[in-house]
Amino acid sequence: MSHLNAGSVRAKRDGAGRGRSFTDPSRGVWARAARLAAPVPPHDRSMESFVIEGGQPLAGTIAVSGSKNAALPILAVSVMTDRPCRFRNIPLLRDVQTQVKILNTLGVETHWQGRTIETRIADDYNSTAPYELVKQMRAGICVLGPLLARRGEAVVSLPGGCVIGERPIDLHLRGLEALGAEIRIEGGYVHAKAPKGGLRGAELYLGGKFGSSVLATDNVMCAAVLAKGTTIIECAACEPEVVDLADCLNHMGARIEGAGSPRITIRGVKSLKAADWAVIPDRIETATFLVAGAITRSPITVTGGRPDHLMAVLDVLRQLGVGVTRKGQAMTVVPCDRPKACEATTLPYPAFPTDVQSQMMALMSIATGTSVLTERIYPDRFMAAAELKRMGANINVGNGQAIVHGVERLTGAEVMASDLRASAALVVAALAAKGTTRISRVYHIDRGYEKIEERLRKLGARITRVDETGGDAATAAAVGAGM
Ligand code: EPU
Repeated sequence: MSHLNAGSVRAKRDGAGRGRSFTDPSRGVWARAARLAAPVPPHDRSMESFVIEGGQPLAGTIAVSGSKNAALPILAVSVMTDRPCRFRNIPLLRDVQTQVKILNTLGVETHWQGRTIETRIADDYNSTAPYELVKQMRAGICVLGPLLARRGEAVVSLPGGCVIGERPIDLHLRGLEALGAEIRIEGGYVHAKAPKGGLRGAELYLGGKFGSSVLATDNVMCAAVLAKGTTIIECAACEPEVVDLADCLNHMGARIEGAGSPRITIRGVKSLKAADWAVIPDRIETATFLVAGAITRSPITVTGGRPDHLMAVLDVLRQLGVGVTRKGQAMTVVPCDRPKACEATTLPYPAFPTDVQSQMMALMSIATGTSVLTERIYPDRFMAAAELKRMGANINVGNGQAIVHGVERLTGAEVMASDLRASAALVVAALAAKGTTRISRVYHIDRGYEKIEERLRKLGARITRVDETGGDAATAAAVGAGM
């Protein structure tokens, strides 16, 4: 146990509060963060901004990090086995930190070294994922299926409101009920309990009014892995992150077939072995960097991504007149002068992803002509539009659509980040805009992009993180992110 962080577990037993002592001052990356933290007064990360001087051409190569949305549910499978696990290629992000804190409260010891997280179950006294953590990150809900599968019960906070629109969890609950779980909502928490004799395999349909659900598929798949008998999930999400989770579980001894298609078949097993798994590259980050190259008309190369996960994004770029050449996994932007207008609609994978919609809206805002972006996953997810308008874009939003009339050039302005992907859109827009843009509340972008300003600076971007309170934002960012 020497290399693992047992802090959280001890703290819980001592009643010293949950999810704090993962900053064990003697070990690992958390340890470094804790030591750094000592001389730095508490820092309000919500006061950090990016200042971007636009119009600089970019050049060179940028490497893609591990996928946030694959890493979060994959880390949760650590509660499904009594064996130690190792997860690699984990991005150093605020959301991953939050997931680690949730796991710590559930009795999982964690040791984070570079981009590897090792986990081990110290105890299973607590199966409650608390509101103060789940409200910070909705993906905390993905511990529900794994906890129920292994411990027979789970209490997980309802995530609460979300800026990108209504995000219900009815499909998660419906799917788990089909496996025999008793579910009640009380005090803002989902209380789920397996029946006597454990969960039972079932045939179930998991589609909702917006089609499939990624995390509902993850939760039900995890629960079915340790259920008795066979489960068939119809209308399963086909996203590469679901496939990565299924592959990881199969590597641990699960029997899952069909992940990546709308029908997943899971034959229950009694127990799972240890995991040693590297998560897939982040397709949304890859797409964001390709858009950064396109909007600044720069032939940058994005390495370490999976072009096969990006076919719809590459197709929209092609329609806009932006080429992308491929050499193995490396993708190089072949920029055009001004993009041509086009239409794009977000839909579940393999179609164009909602998580790239805002960034593409930024690119469309300087196209020749009028583009139409239709949002079929989160019809209200157009927060980037109002801020892009402050930069001179001409966008009308209504009825789940953004009508983007291209303008010749965006201009720098003071804008505010409101969610993760809208922030990414503002960053790429600012890189191309004439003049200086100040983006406030960039803590949103730290949820999903690892040290984005440092990586863009290496491509020649003029971007700095500033602390509006006058402190040292670079140090504070390193401390806050535990990097
Ligand atoms: N939905 C329901 N009922 C449910 C669950 C979902 O009606 O029980 C609806 C949602 O409201 C939405 C649609 O189904 O209209 C799809 O939502 P989904 O459940 O697939 O979203 P999610 O699993 O909660 C993941 C990503 C999101 C990404 C969506 C869609 C993670 C951790 N999050 O969320 O990522 O937008 O899939 O692809 O995997 C992001 O990274 O910025 C982000 C928001």
